[in-house]
Amino acid sequence: MIGIFDSGVGGLTVVREIFKILPQYQIVYFGDTAHLPYGTKSKEAVCRYSLANVQFLLNQGAKIIVIACHTASSLAVDTLRKKFPKIPIFDVVKPGIKQALEVTKNKKIGIIGTLSTIRSEAHKKALLSLNQGVEVFSQACPLLVPLVEEGWINRSETRRIVKYYLRHLKQKQIDTLILACTHYPLLENLISSIAGRRVTLVDPAREVAKELKEFLEKNKDIAQTLKKGKDHKFFVSDVPYKFGELSRRCLGRVVKVEQVRIE
Ligand code: DGL
Repeated sequence: MIGIFDSGVGGLTVVREIFKILPQYQIVYFGDTAHLPYGTKSKEAVCRYSLANVQFLLNQGAKIIVIACHTASSLAVDTLRKKFPKIPIFDVVKPGIKQALEVTKNKKIGIIGTLSTIRSEAHKKALLSLNQGVEVFSQACPLLVPLVEEGWINRSETRRIVKYYLRHLKQKQIDTLILACTHYPLLENLISSIAGRRVTLVDPAREVAKELKEFLEKNKDIAQTLKKGKDHKFFVSDVPYKFGELSRRCLGRVVKVEQVRIE
């Protein structure tokens, strides 16, 4: 199985992209709703939760891990790879960065994400390590996760808040914007209309799905160990807050979800 984890329900945007291009594989999803949000937490806490999440997914039979959460990808990927050196672990930072470097023309790249993601500077460091000629501008957007979870996708209030968050990035004349949070792809149209036509949005969910597909095509021995079929499993560590609504929005149906306690 492909194991996917997130701090909660937002990772379903990543599941959606994986289902689109790798529909044959069975997935097991874990949303750590007991510790949601990760976006305001310390590296130490996010690493601790992420280690437990991966262990849970491996116990369920996952052979590959996808960190759908941008905050966990930014803060915990090195810790996870060190702890589980034999398991292929995909994060959502690297594929987004690679795509941004491919599409930018003026080399001015914007990043939006949670407070902890932006504070970690993971994207900025990764971008500069690949290309020192780019300029990187970041903006934390802490209000967007709750707005998406409330379903306020097309509300004028959300529009005003997105406008406020993007003002600084627009002034810097970015031409590429990385949506570095699980929830932002659900605001893609709104963000795009405010960012303007000159700005290309990068959705790392799409990019990580492509990266995973390429990996499985190249590593047939690993692909063969993955279960196929539609018997997907969804787990959460506390009440499945917003799970039904988000799964309907992302996957077109309300999925069955099981509540489990992990230590
Ligand atoms: N999943 C988180 C992320 O992508 C957003 C929600 C949270 O703060 O936990 O960064």
